[in-house]
Amino acid sequence: MSTINPKMNLELPIQELAIFLKMEVLELQKLIHEKFQLPLKTQKLSPGLVRELALSLGHVYSPKIISFQMLKGGVAKTTSALNIGIRAAMYGAKVLFVDLDQQANLSFALGHNPDEVDHPVWLDLIEKKSTVEELIISLDENVDLIPSGLNNSVLDRVLLNSNRNWAQSVKVPLDQIRANYDLIVIDTAPALSAVNTAVTVASDLVVLPVNPDRFSWMGLQKNIEELSEIKKDFNLGFDYKVLFTRFDAREKLSQDFMAKAQAQFGRRFMGTAIRTCSEIKNSVRSTKSLFHGRSTAKQDYDSASQELLGDLHV
Ligand SMILES: Nc1ncnc2c1ncn2[C@@H]1O[C@H](COP(=O)(O)OP(=O)(O)O)[C@@H](O)[C@H]1O
Ligand SMILES: [Mg+2]
Repeated sequence: MSTINPKMNLELPIQELAIFLKMEVLELQKLIHEKFQLPLKTQKLSPGLVRELALSLGHVYSPKIISFQMLKGGVAKTTSALNIGIRAAMYGAKVLFVDLDQQANLSFALGHNPDEVDHPVWLDLIEKKSTVEELIISLDENVDLIPSGLNNSVLDRVLLNSNRNWAQSVKVPLDQIRANYDLIVIDTAPALSAVNTAVTVASDLVVLPVNPDRFSWMGLQKNIEELSEIKKDFNLGFDYKVLFTRFDAREKLSQDFMAKAQAQFGRRFMGTAIRTCSEIKNSVRSTKSLFHGRSTAKQDYDSASQELLGDLHV
């Protein structure tokens, strides 16, 4: 395991922790003071201490593997995987990001540059050149990454040509390490591919981000057909949820799309929609996360994380 980017700054402001734990700020500060011998006016808490505190208060981090999939590109798969994973880590969850898109946008966003650093990717695991542990890069005390890179672009072909059971090629290796994490977040390329089928087989939940446009709607229907086939073929129990991204309440298109999706998907349509927000571009480019500023995207990804992690909450 190697280490990069040690300064992600995942400390959670006390005000936000108080909301998460449903406590008063002063009461929380007193508890932190007594429990960790930190100053009474402590303003932020690290993920490790957030976790320890939450567990001591009876919170349960119920382990989940969540993948972000959609055959259309540019719908905020990577943005959603990144911010939901980061926020869960700030709430004390142990998070593993798995990047299975050869474009490696998630890896870049997390500070790993596959063009500069030669690090094994999923292909090396399939070709038995690496173990799953050797793929892991440690980013922070509770955050790890299995990065991607261009080498993964032949993954589909290699999987289909191998004699082994390719559909299990994500699940089986993740099963070996999943006990170390509360949340495994998988980002994927925009495709209906063997790799993405193997990702679905490994998932407890598939999140389908969509934008309000016609191609996105058609892509969503196609993706859902594909998911039901996989569910039947492999006899799986995963669920899926539709996440509306780039929502703009002033646009008729957004409103119509929202109404149509709510009618079709019911409880599978996520209660939180992600509004269009200029801060998002800055957050992917800089090492500073969305959660250190103030924006609608911060609010939206915060509630989307809490909604997806449901069980993180009392
Ligand atoms: N809510 C949003 N508001 C504005 N821009 C967004 C939003 N979500 C994503 N974007 C931008 O859209 C582009 C595509 O997002 P990305 O997460 O890379 O999509 P995907 O992984 O599905 O291809 C990126 O430039 C990203 O910054
Ligand atoms: Mg992407």
